[in-house]
Amino acid sequence: MVYVDNAATTWPKPQPVLDAVYECMKVYGANPGRSGHKMALDAASILLYTREMLCSLFHVKDPFRFIFTFNCTDSLNLAIKGLLKPGQHVITTSMEHNSVIRPLMRMEKQGVEVTIVKCHETGRVDPDDIKKAIKSNTRMIITTHASNVTGTLMPVEEIGNIARSLGIVYLIDAAQTAGLIPMDLTELPVDLVALPGHKGLLGPQGTGVLYIRGGIEPETIREGGTGSQSDSIYQPDFIPDKYESGTMNTPGIAGLGAGIRYLQQQDQHKLHLREKKLVKLFIEALSQIEGISLYGLADDSFKTGIVSINIGDKDSSVAADILDQKYGIAVRGGLHCSPLAHQTIKTEKKGVVRFSFGIFNTMEEVKYCVKAVREILRM
Ligand code: ALA
Repeated sequence: MVYVDNAATTWPKPQPVLDAVYECMKVYGANPGRSGHKMALDAASILLYTREMLCSLFHVKDPFRFIFTFNCTDSLNLAIKGLLKPGQHVITTSMEHNSVIRPLMRMEKQGVEVTIVKCHETGRVDPDDIKKAIKSNTRMIITTHASNVTGTLMPVEEIGNIARSLGIVYLIDAAQTAGLIPMDLTELPVDLVALPGHKGLLGPQGTGVLYIRGGIEPETIREGGTGSQSDSIYQPDFIPDKYESGTMNTPGIAGLGAGIRYLQQQDQHKLHLREKKLVKLFIEALSQIEGISLYGLADDSFKTGIVSINIGDKDSSVAADILDQKYGIAVRGGLHCSPLAHQTIKTEKKGVVRFSFGIFNTMEEVKYCVKAVREILRM
């Protein structure tokens, strides 16, 4: 099988990730932060270890600025619902995933004003359009770091500088970039970053992280037992306990720590360049085939490992099924939980066939995908 659905979740996971999950469950599968016995302390120390790995990957000093969540959507919900209040204004873009748009639609019903800035057909937003949308009550700007439909990278630095100069909170959805695009949070002008554990960070599904810069304090969106201040009926107000209620996904977080460590042991820039090479080869080959529609930017310098196409007039879900059943190629077809993004690139009816390359894909696999696409075009 040729797995090119890494934007949905990366596969395969490196062996140390599988080992870390197994070891956690087998050797120290206790509940962290609750009891005081050795196994519970070992379980607690793996949470700290993974936070420290996050610190070193993203250049952050305080490990408790990373909050563990269930997934990237959960991180976005915490940031959005924890910070926005009725009467405030939020700006986002037409390339967002429903993990941003749906919580915002819910907040709109509660009196939050929402502006969705239209992006270019390539998926890029113009920072000037964001600037023009700012009002006196704008509390927050939210953009994806890269679209899950086209892979287009957003100008997050420019947007962050605009937000920072006006004291507006800037949240980015790094679902498609964390672990792929090196991110130095001492330099990048963003306040909150929503991260999935199971994509570029190579961890298991069911893991997510929200980075919250110091000075930003979302309200909680859920409360409960934390193992701390157990004499009190009120939620602790210190991080990370304030936001981490209930038993943690310790095996998943152990796997996430191992995934980040694996990444750290590689040269991240080299990995990124390699992935860009695969994308470039794929785009160049497809551009020469008449009847293939390519979406997003053709310029690979503003792209992740995603290449979305349509093959002649074929419905994208049908094409994805043929790729799977006849060629053993795993892609995602149809609509990708981002209806506004599909409207922006004008694929709201037929969707797209999304190939998303990861660190384990090879040039031979890219060539095989091109061959399969060519043949499907003739069917
Ligand atoms: N958001 C993920 C995707 O784009 C699941 O496939």
